[in-house]
Amino acid sequence: MSYQRDFKKRIKAAVIGAGSHCYRNILPTMTYLPVELAAICDVNEEAAAYTARQYGCRAYTDTGEMLRRETDVEAVFISVGASLHPALVIEALDAGKHVWVEKPVAVRAAQVEEMMAHAGDRIVVAGLKKAFTPAAEKAREVVNSPRYGHLNSILAVYPMNMPKDGRQILEDGGMPNWLRNGVHPLSFMVGVAGKVDTVQTLVNENGFGVVWLKFISGVTGTLHLASGPQPDVERYSLFGDSWQMDIEDARIALRRGICDFNYRGTTSYVSPEDTGGTIVWDTSSCVATLENKAEFVQGMYGETKYFCDCVLERKAPVLGDLESALEIMKVYEAAMLSEGNPVKIHGQ
Ligand SMILES: NC(=O)c1ccc[n+]([C@@H]2O[C@H](COP(=O)([O-])OP(=O)(O)OC[C@H]3O[C@@H](n4cnc5c(N)ncnc54)[C@H](O)[C@@H]3O)[C@@H](O)[C@H]2O)c1
Repeated sequence: MSYQRDFKKRIKAAVIGAGSHCYRNILPTMTYLPVELAAICDVNEEAAAYTARQYGCRAYTDTGEMLRRETDVEAVFISVGASLHPALVIEALDAGKHVWVEKPVAVRAAQVEEMMAHAGDRIVVAGLKKAFTPAAEKAREVVNSPRYGHLNSILAVYPMNMPKDGRQILEDGGMPNWLRNGVHPLSFMVGVAGKVDTVQTLVNENGFGVVWLKFISGVTGTLHLASGPQPDVERYSLFGDSWQMDIEDARIALRRGICDFNYRGTTSYVSPEDTGGTIVWDTSSCVATLENKAEFVQGMYGETKYFCDCVLERKAPVLGDLESALEIMKVYEAAMLSEGNPVKIHGQ
């Protein structure tokens, strides 16, 4: 059961930033989290007051005042914007709070390192939702299983392009789409394959093309920056020694081939029992249950529940932690500087 009202133990929590994403996605997800919302802070007084009334908690327009007054609050959920996140995260950490912070956590990698320096024993989880989708979980399970295992390469296809003036944007602390949305496929890829050694781009005049990643583990990654229609469709393919996995939105297909395949001799594509063939997991929207809701399919529940579990169990996060957020920011910056050349971010 994952209803807020049924949890025996709940974390006293506050929200900073009651804007569009928080109101649409994060606050509704709290219905399924072990939290008790004590306060909402937004510089927009009307949004803060109305939303706090709706959720039966106190409203603030100043984070300092909220953090001072709400002494019982253990954790804050921050969803404001990348340029303001670093200062807000550090303010909450310095006030002794555990922090969940929406993506992008910063506009520069160095700001994530600064957050790390303030974290101490507080728990910080970044909103890297694509590392927390049921599909990403299944991908990690397969990659780490003795039955399948050994991943060679990953392909991600995500609708976005690379800006032209990467170096300048970095210097100005800008927030191109490659940061705002590039975080999503990178969260999936880093979540599955770990730290990245080298980054290289190849894009056309309009910024569409590929970002190549060489992971420290030896896995290679191709992130295809794709043009296309709205709304977005994203795809991931994973290639293992004797299996492939295709993820298109929520649909996952694990392709296992034909068991004991013999090029000249195999006469049926059907393998005995559970030994080959393709396993498909998909959502169904005909019942009013949890697993087919966007909050669950897209990873918003996964990322915030994981944060709550880490806080309740006092365990350091290993997924969506600041290390992972830093890794993603390093890949982001390296791609902005690549201009077709390999940029090493680890192992130099
Ligand atoms: N994970 C996702 O799928 C997803 C989707 C959309 C947006 N986002 C992210 O969510 C974050 C918020 O985006 P949004 O679209 O909701 O933006 P928004 O502008 O609608 O919301 C931001 C809110 O923060 C408030 N705010 C600004 N400064 C503040 C401060 N100092 N203290 C308290 N509140 C302050 C603003 O008044 C506003 O209400 C961004 O980081 C964005 O990238 C994530």
